[in-house]
Order: sequence, then structure tokens, then C-alpha cells
Amino acid sequence: EEWRERGAVTGTQQVTDSNGQTHTRVIKKGVKDFNFGRTLGEGSYSTVLAATDRQNLKEYAIKVLDKRHIIKEKKVKYVNIERDTLNRLTEHPGIVRLYYTFQDERSLYFVLDLASGGELLGVLKKMGSFDVECTRFYGAEILDSVAYMHSRGVIHRDLKPENVLLDREMHVKITDFGTAKILPDPQRKGAGSEAMTGDPMDGAEMDRAVSFVGTAEYVSPELLRDKNACKASDLWAFGCIIYQLLAGRPPFKAANEYLTFQKILALDYSFPEGFPEVARDLVERLLVLDPANRLPVEHIRNHQFFEGIQWTRGLWRQKAPRLK
Ligand code: ADE
Repeated sequence: EEWRERGAVTGTQQVTDSNGQTHTRVIKKGVKDFNFGRTLGEGSYSTVLAATDRQNLKEYAIKVLDKRHIIKEKKVKYVNIERDTLNRLTEHPGIVRLYYTFQDERSLYFVLDLASGGELLGVLKKMGSFDVECTRFYGAEILDSVAYMHSRGVIHRDLKPENVLLDREMHVKITDFGTAKILPDPQRKGAGSEAMTGDPMDGAEMDRAVSFVGTAEYVSPELLRDKNACKASDLWAFGCIIYQLLAGRPPFKAANEYLTFQKILALDYSFPEGFPEVARDLVERLLVLDPANRLPVEHIRNHQFFEGIQWTRGLWRQKAPRLK
């Protein structure tokens, strides 16, 4: 197997060999450049560890992926999708940034932004539910991040409160692009070949949609019906998240995956008593079975629920509201 690497070059060095020839040697970051700390998370074939750059003491989260396991489980393609999408999404504060990749005999290493506030899910579970102000703030940061990834030709396809991390200042950092879909990038020329690797209709992806693994609650009806996800599928998940932040539980939840899927396909959900009216209107315009009829990003931004939000600049500079 061949593993491509990018971004790990930290400098060059001029070396002169015995023939008097001068060469440029590339210096790369590697395992030895970091002190590894506590475990932040564990996946089926990866572990995320806190780590410190020994040179400048900057803290990161390093995702360590087991090469043998990835090959055995035929996940090479998804590891490459994760790296390719993260390399495309480097200019937004709401997305976990990939700084370096490197490898040793056994593992691949992704050096990422450390999100020390943990998962939005954990914070929500601790609080029970959020008030309108907190939901508006976290909803706005998630939406702004989703709008950016869509503008860069990336569909996340697995948005959920576990994949929304929080940094030290409690601002959003979206993670886990292993199941993302890469579209031809409208902002970049010659992005066609990269897009080929993310085509939803090739074999492996079809299998994955059928033998769906993970959290069923945020899956869009079009993925269940046609095994096809589009940008609007992320907005379905966004609607589920807004509902969950206010209600304390996702809209579609049943005893098992199959029953959850049935509820989604039948749009079988209801609002708890006291659910804010303006938020209800927004959720009802997002949890729409036909993706073509879902509220697009620009309309969501202008919805009354987000009144007062300073989109893009102010949002990320403002102090996160106190959770209550
Ligand atoms: N868990 C998974 N990824 C993480 C990250 N980047 N920061 C903190 N915890 C994580």
C-alpha cells in the first residue's frame, strides 16, 4: 500500500556530499517531534491523543491510525478522503485543521487542532438542553462551518453532536470527515481527478449506504431511499441538531435502527410542549422529506431564529454565551 503524505515539511537543510555536490534535504515533522499525552477519543481503527510539539510547546490532537487494520478492513479510501477533505478545508475557524501528516511502520498520524472543550454532545448531556441563546449561537457556528465546507465542495454526511467539538473558548470545531463526499471544487481549477475518488455511485460507497453503521438518528431520508446524499442532507442533520439542542433529544429516536429509519422516512416526529415557536418554524423548514424543498443555507441565515447573528466575522470573535 502507498500512503500519500502532505504538509509535514517543516524546513529544508543544505547538505554537501563527498563529491562536493550540494543537495537540499527536506526536514519533516515526525513522531519524535511530539510528546504524547492522554487519550481524547477512540474509533474502530484510530485513537486520538493529546500531544505537544516539543519545539514550541503548542498543543495538538493527533489521530493515530493503524495501517494493518485499515488495509484489512478495506478503509484505505476513507482515510484518503478524510485527509483530502481536511486539506481542502483549511481556511475556516469552525473546522478542525489538519497541520501535518506522517507515518511510521505501523501507523499513520494526523496532527489536528486540539478541541479541548470536547464534544457538543457531552456538553448537551451535562446541561440537559440549551436555551434559545445558546442554541442560536452554536447553531450559527455549525451553519457557518457547513456553508464553508459546501462552498469548498465537501458534503460531511455524518453531522451529529459527537462530531461537533468545542475549543478552549467553547467555539465550534467540526471533525470526522472520514465519510465525507468531495464534489468538483468550483473555486479551484483542475479539481476533477480528486472528485473521482469521492463518487457516491462506486461500489464501496453503495455498500456502505446499505450496511449503514453509526448513529442512525441524523440520516436523511434521501440517503435511506436512494442511497444518495447531497448538500441538503447536511441541512437535514442540521435541523435534527437544532431540534436536539432545544429538546434535549433528537427528533427521530426509536428502540433500534430499523425503527428509527421508518420514523425518518415517515417524517414521524413531534415537538415537546414549550418548544420555541420561531425555532419550530425553522426546524419544520429543514426536516422536509424532499431535499429540493429544504431551506437553503442563505435562507437559514436570514431566518428569524438567527436574528441578531453577526455572520462570518463577528460570530467567531464574540465570546461564547455562558451555558445555562
Ligand atoms: N477527539 C477527537 N478529535 C479530537 C480533537 N481534535 N480534539 C479533541 N478531542 C478530540
